[in-house]
Amino acid sequence: MTNILETTSFGATSTTDDVLTGVNLKGKRILVTGVSAGIGVETARSLAAHGAQVVGAARDFNKAKTATAQVRKDAAANGGSFELVELDLANLKSVRACADRLLAKGEAFDVIIANAGVMATPFGHTADGFETQFGTNHLGHLCPGQPDCDAHSDRRTADQRILCGSPLRYCGPRRSKL
Ligand SMILES: NC(=O)c1ccc[n+]([C@@H]2O[C@H](COP(=O)([O-])OP(=O)(O)OC[C@H]3O[C@@H](n4cnc5c(N)ncnc54)[C@H](OP(=O)(O)O)[C@@H]3O)[C@@H](O)[C@H]2O)c1
Repeated sequence: MTNILETTSFGATSTTDDVLTGVNLKGKRILVTGVSAGIGVETARSLAAHGAQVVGAARDFNKAKTATAQVRKDAAANGGSFELVELDLANLKSVRACADRLLAKGEAFDVIIANAGVMATPFGHTADGFETQFGTNHLGHLCPGQPDCDAHSDRRTADQRILCGSPLRYCGPRRSKL
């Protein structure tokens, strides 16, 4: 397998805009989970700033709305778009409701970035009784009913991708091929 770090000039100091320079994402529809804080916000901003139609998912809608003010500005200035949907990965009812809302629109995603997650949390349970980290990072993103690339087979292409930023490493060697 080709190591991307050996074939690109990107490194620890590269920015999202460095990586996307010259890339036109117009017409690409991308779902990013966890857009209320951290990496998810910048991921959504940089994609929308390069023309993508970004849907950002967050469990705290108001926090996400505040956190993504710049995302909306950059999207508007660069031909992209940004909308928010509610999604609590620690509650499978919420996951299914979010999936239903997105599927009802009938618009497939070209890319899903499973970014939201928790790490090294105190012991606890999700609404469905699973250990918090396992339930949130794994089951929340992989729950049957999540809007996946196969949902609209008419738009299925070899370019569709699911990227996992949350700590899904426990899925084993197939973690990058959900
Ligand atoms: N930063 C690192 O060095 C690093 C290293 C390895 C892996 N990661 C993983 O990369 C991802 C992003 O990291 P980060 O540093 O940006 O983390 P972060 O600042 O803690 O942000 C995590 C995001 O996930 C959301 N989230 C947590 N639980 C959720 C739930 N039940 N339902 C929906 N959203 C939920 C958070 O929402 P709230 O704002 O509502 O909490 C927040 O938007 C995380 O999955 C993290 O575990 C990060």
